[in-house]
Amino acid sequence: MSNGKTALITGGTSGIGLAIARKFASSGFNIILVGSNPAKDYSDAVRDVSELSQKKKDKPWVKSYGVEITKESEVAHLVKALQSEDITIDVLVHGAGVFFDTPLASDSTTRFERMMAVNVNGMWNIIHSTLPLLKKGDSQTPGSKIVALSSICSFYSFATYSGYCASKAAVTALTRTLALELGPMGININAVEPGRVETAMHDKLINDPSQASLLRSIAEANPSKRAFSKPEDIAEVVAFLCSDGARALHGASIVVDEGTSLGLGA
Ligand SMILES: NC(=O)c1ccc[n+]([C@@H]2O[C@H](COP(=O)([O-])OP(=O)(O)OC[C@H]3O[C@@H](n4cnc5c(N)ncnc54)[C@H](OP(=O)(O)O)[C@@H]3O)[C@@H](O)[C@H]2O)c1
Repeated sequence: MSNGKTALITGGTSGIGLAIARKFASSGFNIILVGSNPAKDYSDAVRDVSELSQKKKDKPWVKSYGVEITKESEVAHLVKALQSEDITIDVLVHGAGVFFDTPLASDSTTRFERMMAVNVNGMWNIIHSTLPLLKKGDSQTPGSKIVALSSICSFYSFATYSGYCASKAAVTALTRTLALELGPMGININAVEPGRVETAMHDKLINDPSQASLLRSIAEANPSKRAFSKPEDIAEVVAFLCSDGARALHGASIVVDEGTSLGLGA
């Protein structure tokens, strides 16, 4: 059955964000999927999530929007569209993100700036702009929940990943510091720090046969003996962070990485 609540997921059109959308849809949430491009066709993602929603009584709805999250004007446009339909947000997930290699000795500046813009400015833009749509609570009554997808790269360094690591460290720092302002409004904000998750971000590693032995050694090095988490593993933790059981968590970062960072001595 519809639970009458709404979850907005940036990055909800692909990978981990899509798995999170599916998880919330199966709990009866209305879903707003946010991808990157107003001209892009997100009907496959909407159909995928709707299949879970449509099994519910009262049929929760699923919508998609293409929003260049780095542009505050586009995010403001999304907020206006939601306001015109009297939509408020119970769960906000910032999953939109990009990854590029940024070797210092190569021409990496554009890629560095793009990661900061999408991963960090995008997080600021979506939280800052949707604040009027988030439900305020108090010490007794829970308000909306926010979860940011960070990465173990926020605290562990990988050579040539400087831009990505810096952007994810900023996502985790934003989570901690915004918690100080959002907590008194009854809004929890927390972060999840995945290791490697089986999504398009790792297409090359997964699909290139020449990488097979590397994949085996990654799995072998992980305490879990799996090279990758599934997007659904991350979605489970996000769902917990958005539940009443997580009400004491403010500005926390939950590592979900198959134990990878332990093996790296982090
Ligand atoms: N996969 C991993 O191993 C891993 C590990 C740790 C952390 N993470 C983080 O988890 C999040 C999701 O990763 P993923 O692997 O699921 O990636 P993905 O499959 O590539 O999905 C990225 C999502 O972000 C959206 N996006 C990208 N640029 C955007 C922009 N400028 N404006 C609005 N939306 C934009 C994409 O929209 P379109 O569909 O329109 O392209 C897509 O929905 C990212 O923040 C990533 O850094 C991933």
